[in-house]
Amino acid sequence: MDSFNLNRKLAQLALLQRIELADRKLMEKRKIFGRYLFSKIFSKYFINTKKISEEYTKIMINELNTIKKYTANKKSFLSIGAGIGGLELLILKTFSDVHISFIEKNYVSSKIRYGWDDLNREGYNDLDLLDKFLESNEISKKRYQIFDFDKKIFPTNKFDVLLSIYSLDYHYDFEVYSNYLKKVMTKDSILIFDTIRPKYFENVFERIEILKEDSNTVHKSKRIACSVFK
Ligand SMILES: C[S@@+](CC[C@H](N)C(=O)[O-])C[C@H]1O[C@@H](n2cnc3c(N)ncnc32)[C@H](O)[C@@H]1O
Repeated sequence: MDSFNLNRKLAQLALLQRIELADRKLMEKRKIFGRYLFSKIFSKYFINTKKISEEYTKIMINELNTIKKYTANKKSFLSIGAGIGGLELLILKTFSDVHISFIEKNYVSSKIRYGWDDLNREGYNDLDLLDKFLESNEISKKRYQIFDFDKKIFPTNKFDVLLSIYSLDYHYDFEVYSNYLKKVMTKDSILIFDTIRPKYFENVFERIEILKEDSNTVHKSKRIACSVFK
């Protein structure tokens, strides 16, 4: 597959959403100049957009492989915290009759703090750019819909597959969405997300399967596929 072609603004967002895309020099600048200048200046003007596009594409292809067995023959997807949507774009390209609803934030925090965020204040996205990214990759507007988390108007239909890759319960509490998820999941829906406390979810769902383990990252986490709320 050809690499995505991210312009500077998209490459900057991809980098902020996937800090593993930062090279050593950039991480040093972050350490020396702090999070504000990193988020505003260095992440935008001190990057190689081609390299970020290529690396981001590789990461997203790997992510698709971790969830692929749950995507076959599924039609209706929800993605919570998709970032610029590389994984979702691959899903839309691979399966021609899929529709994806996105719930995301529409701002970039001025000093992004990675890790657990009790108040769920951090945001690192721009919904116009997400829209343009999908559109410029020839995805028809009929195949996706974007919802701004802060406007509190969410899709009400049932979903086959619900994704939250490194967002829900990785950066902020599952409780932010748990009541909503109960309304939009059926007994056949699959919810896939990354968490640092997989055991906790054994009491929340009837079935859990571990899809991936990240043991060499700062936040050791597992990607779990869950179905049926208890
Ligand atoms: C670490 S990034 C992951 C992005 C993407 N899923 C990926 O794997 O590259 C986390 C994303 O969650 C978004 N986010 C934070 N709080 C959110 C919320 N309450 N609802 C939806 N998205 C949220 C952020 O704006 C950010 O784009």
